[in-house]
Amino acid sequence: MKCFHYFKDKSRSRQQRSAPELKEQSKSDYSGSGTHRIAKSSCSETSARRIPELYEEKARNLRDFSFSELRHATHDFDRLLRIGEGGFGSVYKGSIKPADGKGDPIVVAIKKLNKDGLQGHKQWVAEVQFLGVVEHPNLVKLVGYCAADGERGIQRLLVYEFMPNKSLEDHLFNRAYPALPWKTRLQIILGAAQGLAYLHEGLEIQVIYRDFKTSNVLLDENFKPKLSDFGLAREGPVAGRTHVSTAVMGTNGYAAPDYIETGHLTTKSDVWSFGVVLYEIITGRRSLERNRPRAEQKLLEWVKQFPPDSKKFGLTIDPRLENQYSIAAARKIARLADSCLMKSAKDRPKMTQVVESLKQIIQDSDEEATISKESFEPSETDSADSSKEPNQLEATESWKRRMTHLAKLGEHVEGASRRRFMIMQRAKVA
Ligand SMILES: Nc1ncnc2c1ncn2[C@@H]1O[C@H](COP(=O)(O)OP(=O)(O)OP(=O)(O)O)[C@@H](O)[C@H]1O
Ligand SMILES: [Mg+2]
Repeated sequence: MKCFHYFKDKSRSRQQRSAPELKEQSKSDYSGSGTHRIAKSSCSETSARRIPELYEEKARNLRDFSFSELRHATHDFDRLLRIGEGGFGSVYKGSIKPADGKGDPIVVAIKKLNKDGLQGHKQWVAEVQFLGVVEHPNLVKLVGYCAADGERGIQRLLVYEFMPNKSLEDHLFNRAYPALPWKTRLQIILGAAQGLAYLHEGLEIQVIYRDFKTSNVLLDENFKPKLSDFGLAREGPVAGRTHVSTAVMGTNGYAAPDYIETGHLTTKSDVWSFGVVLYEIITGRRSLERNRPRAEQKLLEWVKQFPPDSKKFGLTIDPRLENQYSIAAARKIARLADSCLMKSAKDRPKMTQVVESLKQIIQDSDEEATISKESFEPSETDSADSSKEPNQLEATESWKRRMTHLAKLGEHVEGASRRRFMIMQRAKVA
């Protein structure tokens, strides 16, 4: 039997992305469990039952749509209703009748897979089976599916709950959207981490997601993140195995180097991808950007020049944040990213540990924000300098000194410099 290698190149723009590249590969990726080459230590998360069995048990409420139903729902796949285009196919907004036929129509997203033969079908099956089994607030819900082999050829479709705020990719990198605030970035990344932690450690089986990236983090009406795209998901290793051996699949710029080199897939491959996205959130830059100067094209290489504990670190932060972020929290996020990006997979944290770290960072920066807000709010005691904290007093004194100095300068300077100074003063007064 033939197998295929599938690797998506995310460095090209969405418009440029072509259909999946198919190449021959080893046999392991087609068998359910794969050919395991290493059996060193035992894996605690053993899978007594496999996905197909769990699917039989749990996925009864998925709807089986006919092709004409979905054609109708999307006005015959009208281009105007097309809301996205990925490596697997096009996504349309549509509306379907509720399962019991009563009440208002339900708005859904319908993904129509490209006709990629066996590989496309395999990814469709994986997506239906995994999304039929998992259930978590940070994973997208699959409403149903459609498999039709008719005069139009082989059709494979997936019907999801509709996510009105597009993806994290859109909000981080597309200038048509306003800059995503720092706090929202942290909340989104925490939710995404919780989704991954559930897949790795919260189920009877262990699920390796294999395609963690910003475009697969969809956002609901409240900007709550939900992971989508389970076409590349795999079950973790069976008892006694450390990893799954697979054909290398994923997206360039996000896949762990150890996985690319060996084909050994573990949950720590997802942790690496998560580390990449953490740096994307800090910098507002994509993991690969071919239109930047050579030294800046690979995000992970570029950020190495600005370590989290260095003075230069601030230079990495997304300029679109316009100083509305906590530098202390950003440093902590970068340190966390570095731990996810450890060369050796076993040195990377588990996703549950990542979740805990993120919660702590968010809590610390909330407290920091409250303290600094309080310190700027005028109170009755503010008039008495003796009541102020030493560093607050210092800041006030230094501000006064700077203003006096600038005022003096302003008496003598003309033209542009003077105007600049006036603008500064006005800005401070407002
Ligand atoms: N459930 C959904 N609700 C709303 N929009 C969606 C939904 N699923 C996908 N989309 C939109 O369709 C776009 C394309 O998704 P798709 O998963 O096909 O491709 P991708 O993630 O951009 O790339 P790739 O194929 O490499 O994973 C998403 O970025 C998103 O804007
Ligand atoms: Mg996707």
